Amino acid sequence: MRSLTLRSPAKVNLYLQVLGKRPDGYHNLKTIFERIDLCDEIRLTPNLDGAIRISCSHPQVPLGPKNLVYRIAALLKKEHKISAGVNIHITKHIPVAAGLAGGSSNAATVLLGLNRLWNLSLNRKKLWEYGQAIGSDVPFFLYDTSWALGEGRGDKITPLSLKAKLWHILIVPRVKMYSREVFTRLNLQLTKKWDDVNILIRSLTKNDIKMTEKLLFNDLESSILEICPRLLTVKERLTQNLNRKVIFSGSGPAVYGLTASKQEAQHVKRILEKRYSQVFVVRTL
Ligand code: C5P
Repeated sequence: MRSLTLRSPAKVNLYLQVLGKRPDGYHNLKTIFERIDLCDEIRLTPNLDGAIRISCSHPQVPLGPKNLVYRIAALLKKEHKISAGVNIHITKHIPVAAGLAGGSSNAATVLLGLNRLWNLSLNRKKLWEYGQAIGSDVPFFLYDTSWALGEGRGDKITPLSLKAKLWHILIVPRVKMYSREVFTRLNLQLTKKWDDVNILIRSLTKNDIKMTEKLLFNDLESSILEICPRLLTVKERLTQNLNRKVIFSGSGPAVYGLTASKQEAQHVKRILEKRYSQVFVVRTL
């Protein structure tokens, strides 16, 4: 039976401003998403017994309803009364619960894949509705874009047609950080109320790395460091070795900086991988 193999990329946030808490418990954000070339691979194979079966190369990834991929497949199967089942194999390269949205990207990839495999003909609006029901970070990955502005709880996406291709050095400490906990600890009084996001978009348009670097920002940093104070050492070590500004991506603990070239990123990687096991050189995808 025909199977589909798809690439499922990670993201980083160049900018993440928390605007306030909403009545539904989520937070309104203004964020810039960047798709990066650190990818999982997902293979969808139809089966006739009707089951949704997940397998994964990473032993810690849940294989049942806790997995966003399982949830989206179950939702589509129920809503569209699909009798066939699907075997979903995930080859994991994106670190789990790291602020890189690997699970959300996997769910978006499966949503797009099952739309094809089950001939659902879902339009963009319907795909968005299913995606946001699974998680705030899922909608970004439904758009074929490297860059986007995220608003609402991060689910309202405006694709940005920017040509910028950036290199990054990324460290992912082996600490699992859950968005819910990071947002819960947020002290909203501490957040800055200015809005640099438009200047950041302009600096990306001009491919001005120096200005882009200056505007990197994440409102969640103090909560991330409160949950895991030793991440400050990781951040400081990367800052010292890179001699540039460094920030956490999303709700962390992944921490990264921009570099002017692949060589610069690789040079810092060679130094830091002696101490950290998950150091990546990644580029805009
Ligand atoms: O949408 P998602 O399931 O990824 O969110 C996980 C948790 O992160 C939510 O339950 C919520 O506590 C928090 N969150 C938030 N505001 C957002 C996104 C996530 O408070 N914009």
